[in-house]
Amino acid sequence: MEYLLTLQKNLFAYTNMLDKINSLKEQIEALTAANAEAIEALRIKYLSKKGEISALFNDFRNVPNEQKREIGQKLNELKTLATDKINALREAFASNDTADAAIDLTRTAAPAEVGTRHPLSLVRQEIISIFSRLGFTVAEGPEVEDDWHVFGALNFADDHPARDMQDTFFIQRSPDVLLRTHTSSVQSRVMEHAQPPIRIVCPGRVYRNEAISYRAHCFFHQVEGLYIDKNVSFTDLKQALLYFAREMFGPETQIRLRPSYFPFTEPSAEMDISCDLCGGKGCNFCKHTGWVEILGCGMVDPNVLEACGIDSKVYSGYAFGMGVERIANLKYRVKDLRMFSENDVRFLDEFKPAH
Ligand code: PHE
Repeated sequence: MEYLLTLQKNLFAYTNMLDKINSLKEQIEALTAANAEAIEALRIKYLSKKGEISALFNDFRNVPNEQKREIGQKLNELKTLATDKINALREAFASNDTADAAIDLTRTAAPAEVGTRHPLSLVRQEIISIFSRLGFTVAEGPEVEDDWHVFGALNFADDHPARDMQDTFFIQRSPDVLLRTHTSSVQSRVMEHAQPPIRIVCPGRVYRNEAISYRAHCFFHQVEGLYIDKNVSFTDLKQALLYFAREMFGPETQIRLRPSYFPFTEPSAEMDISCDLCGGKGCNFCKHTGWVEILGCGMVDPNVLEACGIDSKVYSGYAFGMGVERIANLKYRVKDLRMFSENDVRFLDEFKPAH
């Protein structure tokens, strides 16, 4: 009888212990906490010396010997589970904490990365702004052109080599549709619709069939100018260009004009400026001449005025044209022309205005 009673008591201690372990396990797995104090309260509730798990370890001695092994293992697992859970809660809370701190609404915002103006845009803008101070306004026209506006109206003979496929990109033949090889085409478009006085600068992209290298590209940019009025003389041209050169390259800059040839101007000239690297003494950059070439110019050929419907007996004019890349090279010493169209951010960043 006594034996049976003991057996029953032992069995009760065993099942009672199992139930408690299982219910604690469920509780612990579902634990959540809102802050550090709540986590500490949970630790005390389950893991401290007077906590619920320690109480189970105290009851352990009532478990019959045969079940001690199984219950011991379960108790240890329960303790590990509780420890891990409390640590996990602490960790989650700590990382939440830093995330909260990162959203500091009182902090100044990080400066936004802004883009830069392209060096060619900077130079084009500067050229336009210098000529606008002399009363020039901007005129633009299409890049895809016809033969008349690029060549015919500008006094190019039918067999002029610039009309050759080697120089010009054709989109279609007879009637010819082509990519403009200079922005003089804009000048012929303006002249055919406007009567003098005409005072325009024509910025734009132009195309020539060249092999691409560090010093040539199949497209580049120009700003050309045209001034037509009564009594416009070569002196006016020279004065305007001297003003431009000194505004662009500094007040010490000297200019010189060399006779040249363009179909649409007569007389024609090429303009050099004194080399600002060596101050005109001669260096590698100016090929030891002290001068560097920057543009072409001349008095508008009367044939051009007539072709565009302007009376060449009443009006005269001058024209000039320059490559924006060339001017940019002189200003910034870019050694490879291709850099202008590669859009390498490291190159473009060099032209960031200083803050
Ligand atoms: N159109 C010429 C060129 O592309 C430049 C130029 C313009 C020369 C006007 C003289 C007068 O090279």
